[in-house]
Amino acid sequence: MNIYDELPHPFFVLAPMDDVTDTVFRRIITGASESCGIIAGTAKPDLFFTEFVNADGFCSVGREKVSQKLKFTPEEQPLIAQIWGLKPENFTTLTKYIKRAGFAGVDINMGCPEKTVVRKGACAALINNEQLAGEIITAVQKAAGKNLPVSVKTRLGYKTVDTERWISFLLGFKLAASTIHLRTAVQMSKAPAQYDELTKIVELRDKISPETKIIANGDILSREQGEELVKKYGIDGVMIGRGIFHNPLVFSMNRATSKNTELISLLVHHIKLHEKTWTGEKCYPPLKKYFKIYVSGFDGAADLREKLMATNSHQEALEVLALNYRNSVRQC
Ligand SMILES: Cc1cc2nc3c(=O)[nH]c(=O)nc-3n(C[C@H](O)[C@H](O)[C@H](O)COP(=O)(O)O)c2cc1C
Repeated sequence: MNIYDELPHPFFVLAPMDDVTDTVFRRIITGASESCGIIAGTAKPDLFFTEFVNADGFCSVGREKVSQKLKFTPEEQPLIAQIWGLKPENFTTLTKYIKRAGFAGVDINMGCPEKTVVRKGACAALINNEQLAGEIITAVQKAAGKNLPVSVKTRLGYKTVDTERWISFLLGFKLAASTIHLRTAVQMSKAPAQYDELTKIVELRDKISPETKIIANGDILSREQGEELVKKYGIDGVMIGRGIFHNPLVFSMNRATSKNTELISLLVHHIKLHEKTWTGEKCYPPLKKYFKIYVSGFDGAADLREKLMATNSHQEALEVLALNYRNSVRQC
């Protein structure tokens, strides 16, 4: 079974975001809570991705740390494992693990422009290294076999837009899907996304590999905006990343905004699930970066956020919330 053939048209995907979209955050986005059922207003995306997982790290003494990113529960399915690295043989090892672990697919990161990875020649640097990019895709496809779909997440080019050459090259591998972040690598996330390149990408797809699903990514902040791109360009899916920071209910239909009580219930759920999942593995302070997602856009939000940022433990944060939102804390 190829999961991309089972998804609705169009389908919506939560983007992989390192140190953000871990197993806990993905579960929060599904809205399902063990203690309070489905939290009002939430809706699951059609597909999740893991944070990017380093294949070379997985095949080293650092395996245990790297494996945190591969933790998941059945509610997060369908879930694609995203991987990156340099050595094709390590991609083979990790893909075999991903297959056994029950992920719905494997995605290769060829788009991350961070200096620490491109300096090594990995991720977006592969846009200018067809030889190694091809060896990696071939290794992953061979290890994945027929039942685990292989996709690539990439950009329009490295320094300049290079759609014709680079996307044609990728499509030559008959990928199950490809997500295109509609910027070059050097543009990072700064310049506006170039949606018009989708016309060329879809033409190339139709000519070279009609089965490959095309997923657009970059600056998409709502379902409605994604649906317009689908209508205009004939793409198959839409990936939303930072849009989730503005609205954790972004995957819901007709929900441009969320009520503060819904947001607080999600935050309470997040704090409790973080403690339950990561105690002994991840410490408390990095949890604070999520507070702005839930505590924003309503009266008293800035004041509440300041109090939450001053806390030093899960329990303290729940106590601060209980002072203002007793019912949300008690229910979940
Ligand atoms: C904090 C953060 C971490 C990211 N980590 C990853 C990652 O692990 N893998 C990846 O392919 N892209 C990663 N990205 C890029 C996003 O997946 C996405 O391509 C980018 O944010 C553009 O989409 P957006 O405008 O909807 O946010 C990351 C982005 C952010 C903001």
